[in-house]
Amino acid sequence: DVPVICIDGPTASGKGTLADELAQALGFWVLDSGALYRATAWAALQAGLDLNDEAAVAPLAATLPLRFAGGQVYLGEENVTEALRQEAVGLGASTVAALPAVRQALHALQLGFRRVPGLVADGRDMGTAIFPDAPLKVFLTASAAQRAQRRHKQLIFKGVSANIEGLLADLEARDLRDKTRSASPLKPAQDARLLDNSDLTIEASVDQVLAWWADQRPF
Ligand code: CDP
Repeated sequence: DVPVICIDGPTASGKGTLADELAQALGFWVLDSGALYRATAWAALQAGLDLNDEAAVAPLAATLPLRFAGGQVYLGEENVTEALRQEAVGLGASTVAALPAVRQALHALQLGFRRVPGLVADGRDMGTAIFPDAPLKVFLTASAAQRAQRRHKQLIFKGVSANIEGLLADLEARDLRDKTRSASPLKPAQDARLLDNSDLTIEASVDQVLAWWADQRPF
């Protein structure tokens, strides 16, 4: 039974950073499930598809030539790491993520990341739909204002200009879409531990989850 730690939560709550740090500390693999939805949106946009066209987009998701290597994401031969991080692709991802056939197509792909010695899975439905038997599920939140500020910092760091009000509006729109869709809506699993990191450092968040993990272990 390969253990999985699920980190679910809204956009820009720090899931990716937390997942990477935990994986590093425990020597586990990481699944950035958002990258799968982003890659699907990116491939659909490249193909000129309507992102709401379930019958056209789902086959793309089912055959994504996606590869993670050395911290980079490849689609076929193309390095799409930067392309996938664009805000427009994030918004597109939340559109295709609402299509049940797309979620279905990506399900098996995600299960394949569960490998020894363990996995840290970052997403929206890791604990509720993909790894319901995971021994530790964390639902990570932070205030919308904090999250907009973090996303702003990330963009500035990359040399992209952005304004906080616009980012706040975008992330609230995306959260609303993620929470209200019928297929695997964003919500904490029944047995999830809630972690609000609005006022926590990354290190403190990592320590909290490692403490829960240590508690969790049967030996
Ligand atoms: O980095 P950020 O949190 O903004 O986005 P992400 O985790 O890369 O996810 C992008 C979008 O994909 C989200 O807004 C969700 O709509 C969707 N998604 C999902 O539905 N289920 C997942 N397990 C992961 C992402």
